[in-house]
Amino acid sequence: MDALKTITERRSARAFQPVSIPKEMVEEILGLTVNAPSGNNLQPWEFVVVMDEEKDRLSRRLIKAYKEKQISCGSGAVKPLPKATRQRGVQTLEAMKTYADRIGASIDSFINEGSCNFYGAPVAVIICLDDCFSARQMVDVGTAVGYMVLAAQASGLATCPIGLITDYADEIKDLLNIPENKKVVIGVALGYPDRENPMAQFRSSRASLSELVRWI
Ligand SMILES: Cc1cc2nc3c(=O)[nH]c(=O)nc-3n(C[C@H](O)[C@H](O)[C@H](O)COP(=O)(O)O)c2cc1C
Repeated sequence: MDALKTITERRSARAFQPVSIPKEMVEEILGLTVNAPSGNNLQPWEFVVVMDEEKDRLSRRLIKAYKEKQISCGSGAVKPLPKATRQRGVQTLEAMKTYADRIGASIDSFINEGSCNFYGAPVAVIICLDDCFSARQMVDVGTAVGYMVLAAQASGLATCPIGLITDYADEIKDLLNIPENKKVVIGVALGYPDRENPMAQFRSSRASLSELVRWI
């Protein structure tokens, strides 16, 4: 698929078909992902790929943790968000709510429980970073996520980055035997999109460049 088309067409999926993905296909996507640039070419990312029944087991554990702790999907910001940014988040949620209404789901439980379930995707990729690294290497992981979601899109698959799961890092590390000195940075749901699901019609918008760019 043409790279520009891949970039413009990609959007996160929040409904997946319950269809397994061959390991080779996941390997191909990860092989493309690691072409991402990283500071000093350290390639600090570590991937834990959780598939099929094991992914279901992980989801059950996360949903249980969510029900106990009730931590909602949020920005994780340490100070109040600037107005324009906050509005983008509010608008996105409001737009998504229209679609959640169509499937009779409350938007909060749809997003929170859905995120814990990787929206039904057969594969969850958990990305970790050794705790020796500074915030600089978080940029590397973010870049890798960008490559991963585009590689999946170009391969006919869909993704949704799932930051919410980092609130349940202890449970994830325990279940997946991830060492204490590794940070769980993000998860990515990966699978075939369920285009029949009303949620598939939702497409997030973008602010205009004039709001985001200052030319000098
Ligand atoms: C770092 C990061 C964390 C995210 N965490 C979640 C999440 O926990 N749950 C979720 O449903 N979507 C999550 N998303 C997806 C965003 O909501 C989505 O990327 C954004 O609304 C833009 O929509 P698009 O991906 O469809 O273009 C996350 C995305 C990023 C980049």
